[in-house]
Order: sequence, then C-alpha cells, then structure tokens
Amino acid sequence: MTTNKIPASAGGRIDETTGTETVGHEWDGIEELNTPLPRWWLYTFYATILFAIGYMVLYPAWPLLDRATAGTLGWTSRGDLAAQMRAADAARAGTVAKIAATPIEALPADPQLMQTAVAGGAAAFKVNCVQCHGAGAAGSPGYPNLNDDDWIWGGTLTEIEYTLTHGIRWDAAAETRSNFMPPFAGSFDAAQQSALAAHVLSLSGKAKASAAGAQMFADNCAACHGAGGEGLPAMGGPALNDAIWLYGGTAADVKAQILKPRHGVMPAWQGRLDPVTIKMLAAYVHARGGGQDPAPAAPATPETEAAKVAAK
Ligand code: HEC
Ligand code: HEC
Repeated sequence: MTTNKIPASAGGRIDETTGTETVGHEWDGIEELNTPLPRWWLYTFYATILFAIGYMVLYPAWPLLDRATAGTLGWTSRGDLAAQMRAADAARAGTVAKIAATPIEALPADPQLMQTAVAGGAAAFKVNCVQCHGAGAAGSPGYPNLNDDDWIWGGTLTEIEYTLTHGIRWDAAAETRSNFMPPFAGSFDAAQQSALAAHVLSLSGKAKASAAGAQMFADNCAACHGAGGEGLPAMGGPALNDAIWLYGGTAADVKAQILKPRHGVMPAWQGRLDPVTIKMLAAYVHARGGGQDPAPAAPATPETEAAKVAAK
C-alpha cells in the first residue's frame, strides 16, 4: 500500500512494528512513517478539482480588471433577480387587474381582494405617507390622525379615494378639496373672542356654554362647522365637538385659529401614484379603524348632539 517510495539513500526503511516505510527523519529515536493518504480522501480531492474546473467554465469565475469571465451558461445574479421579479409581477398582475376593475365601494364585497388591497396600501403608506402622518398614521399637530373616526373630508372609501386623488388645497389639482376659514381678527373684540372660544370648547364639554358665544357661533361659524359644531365634510369644516384637534384644544389655540386661521395642505397623489395604488391606500386608511360606511349618517339634531356631549 505504499505510493511514495523513499530512496534508500534518503534513509527510508520498513518500520518493523507497523510494516510501513519511514521517510528517514528521526528525532531522539522517534521515526516519521510515510503513511499514504486514504483512498476516499484522495478521490474526494480529485473530484473537487474536477468540480472547480467545470464551475469555472460554466459560471462567472475568473476576476478580470473590471468584471469576471462570463461563463458559458451566461448566468448572472442580476439576471436571476430580474427573472424572479418578472415571476412575482406575473403572479401579482391578476390581482392588480382585478383591483383596477373593481370600483372602490365594491371592494368590501370581496373580502380576499379587500385584504390584498389593504396589505398593498400598508406597504405604499410606509413609503409615501409616514413622513407627515406618522408610522402608525396617528398624525401630529396639523397632520390628522387617520386612525380615529373623525373625518375632515369624509371617511367613506369613495371620499378617502377622492381626497387622495385630488389632494387638499393643492393648487395644481383642479378638483382638489378646498375651503378656507376667513380670518375674524377685525370682527370680534377680546371679550367676544373669549366667549366664542368658550362656546367652541363647550361643544366638547371642556368649558361652560354662553348664550352670547352660541349666538356668534350660529351667525359666523355654523355654515362651515355645522350648527352643533359636528363638522361639515362637504365644506371641509372639521368637527369642533369631539375634542379631537388639528391645531390644539386650548382656548388660546381656538382663539388663534379664529384670528389667523391655519390651513392644512396635502399633495394630490394622482400622477405620482397609479390609480390602483391610490385605491389600495384608501382601503388601508379606511381599514385603520375609523372608516365610515357609505350609508349617509343620520342628520345631527340638537338632541343627538346633546346626548353626545353628555356621553363624554
Ligand atoms: C406633506 C405632508 C403629507 C403627506 C406626505 C401626506 N399627507 Fe395626508 N394630509 C396632510 C395634511 C396636512 C392633511 C390635512 C389637511 C386639512 O387640514 O384638511 C392631510 C389629510 C389627509 C386625509 C384626510 C383626513 C380627513 O380627516 O379627511 C387623508 C385620508 C390622508 N391625508 C391620507 C394620506 C395618505 C394615504 C398619504 C400617503 C399617500 C398622505 N396622506 C400623505 C399631509 C400629508
Ligand atoms: C368658510 C368656512 C369656515 C368658517 C365660516 C369658519 N371656519 Fe373654522 N375652519 C374652517 C376650515 C376649512 C378649517 C380647517 C382648516 C384645516 O383643515 O386645516 C377650520 C378650522 C377651525 C378650527 C380648528 C379645528 C381643529 O381641529 O384644530 C377651529 C377652532 C375653528 N375652525 C373655529 C371656527 C370658529 C369659532 C368660527 C366662527 C367664528 C369658524 N371656525 C368659522 C372653515 C371655516
């Protein structure tokens, strides 16, 4: 079983105990045996060499100055990714076409399609909306919370889709949602401003009602905010009776809005995002919790408003 014959001149001889040839090295009487490599090890080693040669011929392998040899199979990791993406797109195309063909108000009738739309909307929200509305869509002063059931411009699927498509006070979009609260700086003296602010806060039970404040509100504010301050989505007048504030809920905040109103602006997403993405975003926002059903809400009456205030 010996492969490497050590010439006798190098000191090789057969070790008596093991019957194996020695290589001729000897330290303090200890001699080095020339044990051959096991066959299985050698053949595995030769196989890896063959594999490496085959691999280098078939796949990109040898580094050149600015790239590597191409390999006869023409495989690239970039091409592999492109093929995977084409497959994913093809798998998605059916769903996308289905969402495109379904009017948004009909989406809930197909729970599976609705679920896909909400998931797609969640992904698009992370890319396009979190910088203003926050990661959890909880908003911040001036940027509305999209989780509650307080809607400035309406909370049905159709209304949300419209808001997203055309934006809010976005001059570049012809059909953008728009309404401006006039500044009332010259209209009321200090006492009147305080009475008005107190009336606004009384609508959510945060201050005592005053007859003078109520009268001024009916004359100057109800047209946009509703008689009971319940909000008029058609006018973009936010509800003032729910203790949810865009610009703050202290008497000073309310007075500031009366004297020098602030107005939120949101870009129109039409043209930036395709209609299917906008539809999926509307489904996602609607599903955040506060989405409204298309059925028109019962008109607010003084009794229902009083009951709401009492319930707080
Ligand atoms: C540049 C900041 C900004 C970005 C980005 C933004 N929004 Fe808005 N969004 C606003 C502001 C400000 C308002 C409130 C406008 C107002 O005062 O009426 C608003 C209002 C809304 C409303 C109406 C809420 C209501 O009560 O009627 C919805 C729905 C909405 N955003 C969804 C989205 C979605 C979905 C995205 C991502 C595609 C998005 N927004 C991206 C600033 C932004
Ligand atoms: C022409 C319509 C219009 C009239 C009239 C009007 N408002 Fe407004 N008001 C608005 C709009 C629109 C906004 C919301 C601005 C925004 O979305 O950024 C608003 C916002 C407010 C806010 C802030 C709400 C919040 O959530 O922070 C208060 C407070 C308010 N109005 C009080 C009044 C009072 C009091 C009067 C009467 C003196 C009045 N408004 C008259 C349209 C009007």
